[in-house]
Amino acid sequence: MQVGVPRELAAAERRVAVAPDTVPRLVKLGFTVAVEAGAGDAAGFTDQAYVDAGATLVDREAAWGSDIVAHIEPPGVRPDGQAEVDDLRAGAILVSMLDAARNGDLLAAIAARGASAVALERVPRITRAQKMDVLSSMANIAGYRAVIEAANIYGSFFTAQMTAAGKAPPCRVLVIGAGVAGLAAMGAARALGAEVRAFDVRPACREQVESMGGQFLEVQIEESGEGGGGYAKTMSPEFIAAEMALFLKQAKQVDVIITTALIPGKRAPTLITADHIAAMKPGSVVVDMAAATGGNCELSQAGKAVVKNGVTIIGYTDLASRMAPVSSRFFGQNIAHLLDDMGGGEDMKIDLEDQVLHQTAVVYNGAVRWPIEPFPTAAPPPRPTPAAAPAVIPATAAAKVPPKPSKAPAILSLVAAVILVILAFTAPGDFLQHLTVFVLAVFVGWQLIWNVSPALHTPLMSVTNAISGIIILGGLLQAGTGKEINLSVILGAVAILFASINVAGGFLVTQRMLRMFHK
Ligand code: NAI
Repeated sequence: MQVGVPRELAAAERRVAVAPDTVPRLVKLGFTVAVEAGAGDAAGFTDQAYVDAGATLVDREAAWGSDIVAHIEPPGVRPDGQAEVDDLRAGAILVSMLDAARNGDLLAAIAARGASAVALERVPRITRAQKMDVLSSMANIAGYRAVIEAANIYGSFFTAQMTAAGKAPPCRVLVIGAGVAGLAAMGAARALGAEVRAFDVRPACREQVESMGGQFLEVQIEESGEGGGGYAKTMSPEFIAAEMALFLKQAKQVDVIITTALIPGKRAPTLITADHIAAMKPGSVVVDMAAATGGNCELSQAGKAVVKNGVTIIGYTDLASRMAPVSSRFFGQNIAHLLDDMGGGEDMKIDLEDQVLHQTAVVYNGAVRWPIEPFPTAAPPPRPTPAAAPAVIPATAAAKVPPKPSKAPAILSLVAAVILVILAFTAPGDFLQHLTVFVLAVFVGWQLIWNVSPALHTPLMSVTNAISGIIILGGLLQAGTGKEINLSVILGAVAILFASINVAGGFLVTQRMLRMFHK
C-alpha cells in the first residue's frame, strides 16, 4: 500500500501532511511513502530529508494516484484548471480536512472517482481518538502562535519589569473561550509572564483556567453553555449581552484580547464590537482566532491585521501554518495514528462499525455518506478524559472479548502452600510465628494503603504518607517497648525519624508547588 503526499496548493499553506520524521513510522506500519518533489519545501523539509527517511520522490500525478493520499487542506483546483481530486484512482482513500459540511461538490467529485474520503475535521473528541485529532493538535499550536503574534505587535513586555531605567507593569491578557486553543494561549501568555484572565460559557472550564494560573471571569446570569462533547451550545441573547458587558469592562483594563469562541457548525459568535475596540488603550492587540468562521470581533478581517483606534486586530487564519515545521510533524503523526487504527499496511480498511471512521468517512467506495447519522452507541461523546474511555467502547465489541481468567493467582497460592508446608517441617518455631505476623502485616498494610482516599494534592503523596504513618507506628512500638537501648530501639527511632522527614517534607514540597501555581 502506498501513501502519497502531494504538495499543498492552497494559498499561504506552508504545511505538508507528512513530515520526514513520520515516514519511518509509516514504513513500519507496512506502507511505502511517495512524496511529491518539493512538497516539504515551504515547511523547511528538503526532498533529500524525505529520501533519507525512506520515502521515494514522485511527481504530482503519482502522489495523487496512490492507494492512500494524505493531504491537509480541502483539495482545490490546480493551476491548469483541473481539480486536484481528478487524479484520485478508484478504490483510493483520501485522508484530508474536507470541510465536508460546506463542500458538497468536492465530496461528489471524490465519489465520482470511485474513491473514499476520510474528513479529518470530523474526528470525534473521544479519548481513543485524541491521537488522531488534527483540529486539537493544530488549535494547540495556533493558540500558542496567537500569543506570539500579539507579543510581536504589543509595544511592551509581557512580564513585569523593574530596572534602573524604569518599570513596566505586566501585560494583561484576556482569553475568550477556554477550549484547546484558548488553554494553549493561556499557557503561552503565562509562560511569558503575563497576567491572564479568561471567560468561557462552559462552567467545566473554570478548573482548567485556574490550573493554568488564569483568573476565571463570571457573568451574573445562570446559564450553562455545555453543548455535549466538550463543545458549546448557542447562548441566549441575554447571556451574550451580559457577556459583552463584562468584556466592555475588561477591554478598558487589558492590553491583549485573544478570542477563540466557537460553536461547531455555526458562525462564530460576535463578542467584541467596535465599542469594545474604542474602549481599549491604543497599542493594545486583539487576535481573533475565529476570523475564518465569521470572527468573534466585528472589526476583524480574515487573513489580515488591521488597526482601528490604535488597536491592532489580527485575523490571521493560518496561525498553525506559521509554525509549519512543527505543525506538519504533528499533523503527520495524527495521520499515522489514524492509518494504524485503520489496520495499517495490507490490512487497511474503512470499518464503518468503528466510531471514528463512521463519523469521518464522508465518501465510501464511490458513495457520498453526507450527512452522517450519529454513531449508534455514542450519546454525546464526552470531552477527552481518561475516565471517559470505556463509554465509547461499543457494547457489542466489549461483549465479544470477555476478559481472560488469569491463572497467576492460583499458581502463586499453590507455590506459597508448598513453601509453608516445607517450612512447617524444617524451620524453627519462632521463625514460623514471625513469618505469619509478617504475611498478615503485608496483607493488612496493602489493604490499608490502597484504601487511603487521595486527600492531598496527589494520590502518590497520600499513599506515601500512609506508608510513612504505618512506619511511624511500627517504630513507636519498637522504640517504646525497650527499657534499655538496644538494636530494636535504635532501628525504631531511625524509622520514626526518616518517616517523619518524609511526611513533613512532602507537605513542604506541596506548599512550594502550590505557591508556584499561585504566582
Ligand atoms: P474549542 O471548541 O476547543 O474551544 C472553543 C471554546 O469557545 C469552547 O470552550 C466554548 O465553550 C467556547 N465558547 C463558545 N461560545 C462562547 C461564548 N459565547 N463565550 C465564551 N466562550 C465561548 O475550539 P478550539 O479547537 O480551541 O478552536 C478555537 C477557535 O480557533 C476556532 O474558531 C477555530 O476555528 C480557531 N482556530 C483558528 C486557527 C487560525 O489559524 N486562526 C487555527 C486553529 C483553530
